[in-house]
Amino acid sequence: MAVDFSRIPRQRLPELLRAMPKAELHLHIEGTLEPELIFALAKKNGVALAYPSVDALRAAYAFTDLQSFLDIYYAGASVLLHESDFEAMAMAYFERAAADHVVHAEVFFDPQTHAARGVSIGTVIRGLAAARARARRELGLRSELILCFLRHLSEDEAIATLEAALPYGEHFIGVGLDSSERGNPPEKFARVFARAGALGLHRVAHAGEEGPPSYIEAALDVLHAERIDHGVRCVESPALVARLAREGVALTVCPLSNLKLRVFDKLADHNLADLLRAGIKATINSDDPAYFGGYVNDNFIATFEALPQLGAADAYALAKNSFDASFVDAAARAAMTARLDAEFARFA
Ligand code: ADE
Ligand code: ZN
Repeated sequence: MAVDFSRIPRQRLPELLRAMPKAELHLHIEGTLEPELIFALAKKNGVALAYPSVDALRAAYAFTDLQSFLDIYYAGASVLLHESDFEAMAMAYFERAAADHVVHAEVFFDPQTHAARGVSIGTVIRGLAAARARARRELGLRSELILCFLRHLSEDEAIATLEAALPYGEHFIGVGLDSSERGNPPEKFARVFARAGALGLHRVAHAGEEGPPSYIEAALDVLHAERIDHGVRCVESPALVARLAREGVALTVCPLSNLKLRVFDKLADHNLADLLRAGIKATINSDDPAYFGGYVNDNFIATFEALPQLGAADAYALAKNSFDASFVDAAARAAMTARLDAEFARFA
């Protein structure tokens, strides 16, 4: 594209970051459950919460690592019982995403979290599918669903989950791997990812958030992951950085998540700019925005504020990478890119 990025003054960057169309590729729908909705659903469904108020719950969002977050995240999800609860949660996210000019979202969901409370996978998927249809109709927002396996559980449980999901196969395009990373390497899920691949599903995996670079390599080589979620610890292996750049593997980076879960001490220490300079297709995403202090635009604004080496050309690259790394067809990708070009032309 022939935009002269130097014509976009630095002070207009926040406005540009907010307005530019973007895809969100790393978003756990259960991580969009705001405390107010948790309390409303708890009351409606008669679920007891360990916190007396919205403020007390929010005050508990002081995490020391991934596990300390996951404990609260799974407790929050316990209020979701009915199809309409999943629809309400997802619709609230889609409204916020549309306001951030997200034009396409590939949304993770964790069916095993809900099955543990007796909520069937059909209830989860039907509720999310209803919200997707409404978002498309009412907001013009496209979305897809990606079914994630909880890596702290066994591979047999993941296989049973995939088989139980197959009657709803039209509603999800891929599988992912999330939850406690350390001690649960990708190799543990080789068979279920092979089965997903044989079914024609896309494959992604969290790796290199807290886990070592070898987990990223195993996600690529053993699970055949097409994208790596997080992946920021790749920088500990120069050979892996070179490989990710050479093979065009996208990383779905989540800066505010990394900050809240202490992957980096401060945002100024984040390696996003280094990843981009190394030629890696990095993207910016929100992970669990209700828990980490911001949706995708908050992530963009905070990251560009903390890393002054990022400029308008990087903003363009990050949005373009999000379209290129998405699982949409070529026509949809071209349409989203044209909208991006038009927005940049307006600013330049
Ligand atoms: N589940 C929800 N958010 C997650 C994250 N950042 N890492 C692993 N599992 C998750
Ligand atoms: Zn995640």
